[in-house]
Amino acid sequence: MTTTTTDPDTTALLAPFVERCRAAVHSAEPRRAVIAEVAGLMADRDLLASLPVPAPDAGHRITGADETIFEDDSLTVMLVHTRPGHDQPAHDHLVDAIIGVYDGGEVHRFYRRTGTSEPAIEHSGTRTIRAGDDVLALTPEAVHAIAAADGAWTRAVHVYLGGLSGVDRSIFHPETGVEEPLSMGRYVAWCRPNGD
Ligand SMILES: [Fe+2]
Repeated sequence: MTTTTTDPDTTALLAPFVERCRAAVHSAEPRRAVIAEVAGLMADRDLLASLPVPAPDAGHRITGADETIFEDDSLTVMLVHTRPGHDQPAHDHLVDAIIGVYDGGEVHRFYRRTGTSEPAIEHSGTRTIRAGDDVLALTPEAVHAIAAADGAWTRAVHVYLGGLSGVDRSIFHPETGVEEPLSMGRYVAWCRPNGD
């Protein structure tokens, strides 16, 4: 959730992937095409291993660092480096989100809407996506929260079928489940230590 300056080498290494995603998002079946591109990237272990790793003090001391590789109105490509130690708050995206983990494990807690305001969501399941696992594809209405598994940094590619920074998204309070507009301040304030 904290955007850092993207390493120029990372941008260059992922440029072909970004171009394939840009074509995919304008294809007849954008969601399926982008899933295939992310799966293809996850299979390129040599490329993934060559991606520069941000310094441990880059980004935010609680959440870690996000590198935005590309964003326009139809597509956002990010590398999400999640620091261990906190459960991050539940949020939506309102666009499809396609996620491939290439280092460590990304814990996803999933929620369903209750139809009431407090709590607005309830926990519906948890899944940990690890390097080598299938790509995770979330629908626009999905609500999830992430954390790094096993007390180690998690590194993942998150591709959104829209311009994520321009979307008015929601975040949910970790104790009350109340829905509020997502902001960086709330996101960090609503992280909770998890002992990892
Ligand atoms: Fe998310």
